Amino acid sequence: MSTQAIGMFDSGVGGTSIWREIHALLPSENTIYLADSKYAPYGEKTQKEILELSIKNTEYLLSRNCKIIVVACNTATTNAIDYLRENYNIPFIGIEPAIKPAALNSKTGVVGVLATRGTLASSLFSKTTALYAKDRLVLEQFGDGLVPLIEAGEIESDEMEVLLTKYLQPMIDKNIDYLVLGCTHYPYLIPQLKKILPPSVTIIDSGVAVAKQTKNVLAAHQLLNTSNTTGTLEFYTNKNVAVLQSLLALNEKSAVISALDF
Ligand code: DGL
Repeated sequence: MSTQAIGMFDSGVGGTSIWREIHALLPSENTIYLADSKYAPYGEKTQKEILELSIKNTEYLLSRNCKIIVVACNTATTNAIDYLRENYNIPFIGIEPAIKPAALNSKTGVVGVLATRGTLASSLFSKTTALYAKDRLVLEQFGDGLVPLIEAGEIESDEMEVLLTKYLQPMIDKNIDYLVLGCTHYPYLIPQLKKILPPSVTIIDSGVAVAKQTKNVLAAHQLLNTSNTTGTLEFYTNKNVAVLQSLLALNEKSAVISALDF
């Protein structure tokens, strides 16, 4: 059982930021990653569409006999994970914007959240914010346009800088000291974000927490792979192999990055 793969999916290449943390913590695990880039961005789709895409990805990963599925996408988690957990008989790990640590540690009392429309509009996000940040000013900003630019491999473009400045300046003006990245694509923007934000702003994402949670859940189900060798690392995209390859920039011999129609 333990040699079965950890399955992961995202609307595209962004969830590889989560894959990275999971692989760093659990290097001997076999992993299968699905970049559903053909259908990105999820963030501007209806909940029904996001659910249908999440089911499609889950069915593929189940056909590959995965032992656990990591929904490496905030938008799919906040819109589909309850359904997935109720309807499939394996553990699911989800990812949500890290509002709690930001709200707890903020000194200015003002926290920024950059996430997709689909995530910010979800009831799960409203519940988490009400629970952990009710005495904080939470500035929510849709990251419209960011995911398509990352999917096109245009992280360092002028267009990206213009968009990020437009989204961050109002938060800077209101004195945020934490910026929560509520989309798994956004950790790839950290160098660009740091150029715009004052050094007093801490950027946080949920990658490390998701990796720890994956390890804990695997251990609780006695599903950890105890081998001493690096796992097989399979990555599939239904769009652009070159973009996925360049973002991953992997040296591991056991990594295979391929096109697949799913
Ligand atoms: N990586 C996805 C997330 O975490 C991006 C969603 C999108 O495709 O809009 O929300």
